Amino acid sequence: MSKKKLVFSGVQPTGNLHLGNYLGAMKNFVSLQKEMECIYCVVDLHAITTLQKPEQLRNNVLETVASFLATGLDPNKSIIFNQSSVSGHAELAWILNCVSRIGWLNRMTQFKDKAGPDKETASVGLYIYPNLMAADILLYKATHVPVGADQKQHLELSRDIAQKFNNDFNCKDFFPLPEPLIPKNVSRIMSLRDGTKKMSKSEDSDYSRINLKDSADDINKKIKKAKSDSDPIPDNLKSLEKKPEALNLLNIYSEISKMSLENVLKEMSGKEYSFLKSKLTEILTSEIIPVGKQIKKLLEDRPHLENVLKKGREKANIRAEENLKIIREKVGLI
Ligand code: AMP
Ligand code: TRP
Repeated sequence: MSKKKLVFSGVQPTGNLHLGNYLGAMKNFVSLQKEMECIYCVVDLHAITTLQKPEQLRNNVLETVASFLATGLDPNKSIIFNQSSVSGHAELAWILNCVSRIGWLNRMTQFKDKAGPDKETASVGLYIYPNLMAADILLYKATHVPVGADQKQHLELSRDIAQKFNNDFNCKDFFPLPEPLIPKNVSRIMSLRDGTKKMSKSEDSDYSRINLKDSADDINKKIKKAKSDSDPIPDNLKSLEKKPEALNLLNIYSEISKMSLENVLKEMSGKEYSFLKSKLTEILTSEIIPVGKQIKKLLEDRPHLENVLKKGREKANIRAEENLKIIREKVGLI
């Protein structure tokens, strides 16, 4: 059965969008908007699964919208809105809490990482976070979900929930099983300080990540300090297997320069990492600085950003309500 393609993805408004978000997710958002209908959501209800300062949360939502626009999302092509403004997300999440299984949630590695050793003190919201993510996607019957590799397990859970709903309520094919769209080489950009950890907003050291709002000086310093290797750059991928930090820098260079990793190795082999670092600083600066400048400029016009959200919410809400009406009927809610 051929269904119309629809893209949905979400980004948490927790501040400091970085190169991992940009290469792993947001650049993909922009290219998809050229081919398909897309809905991009600032997931504020996900953000509050850990305590947020209200004023900061409001600012972070607007900053995430500014980052969407600065990377090239067009509110006339894509629907851009914040999750809490369409109440259907929370309503469907409750219904899906009743479909999803405790055993399924117990397998989620992100919960284990985020909750830390004392799980008893984590919020219930953090535990059922993946059910809300399934609701985000299924509320619009989205078919494709661009995300980084860290979200793969959550996407698989969304598919399981969709399938169980379709079985439980006897409506084969009602919810499409959403397909993850995970980029090949940059699905997991690693920390600049530790190549075994993903680049993340929450790592303490700002030297671990390149933020979209970093200055040229910040980028220069962070790449200079990035962990690399004392041997010269090898000529084959196999030799990089045990050097995750070096591989990460080469991968970022390959993605931004649009050269294959093999060709990058051809260009760089035998050279010192300082050579790669100075080239990388150059291309990162020309890619990221204009985005950061645009984010700062957009943040000066809050009414414009609020207006983008308002228009997006209106469009999203119409679709959400249409689908929810049918979902309520299927479940037997009057
Ligand atoms: P978050 O900021 O956690 O809401 O993530 C927003 C999007 O960026 C999701 O699709 C993530 O999978 C993606 N993402 C976050 N960190 C990375 C990373 N280090 N490498 C690649 N993609 C990432
Ligand atoms: N959990 C995702 C993250 O942390 C954000 C997210 C929430 C999302 N809802 C979504 C991503 C729906 C894709 C689709 O990155």
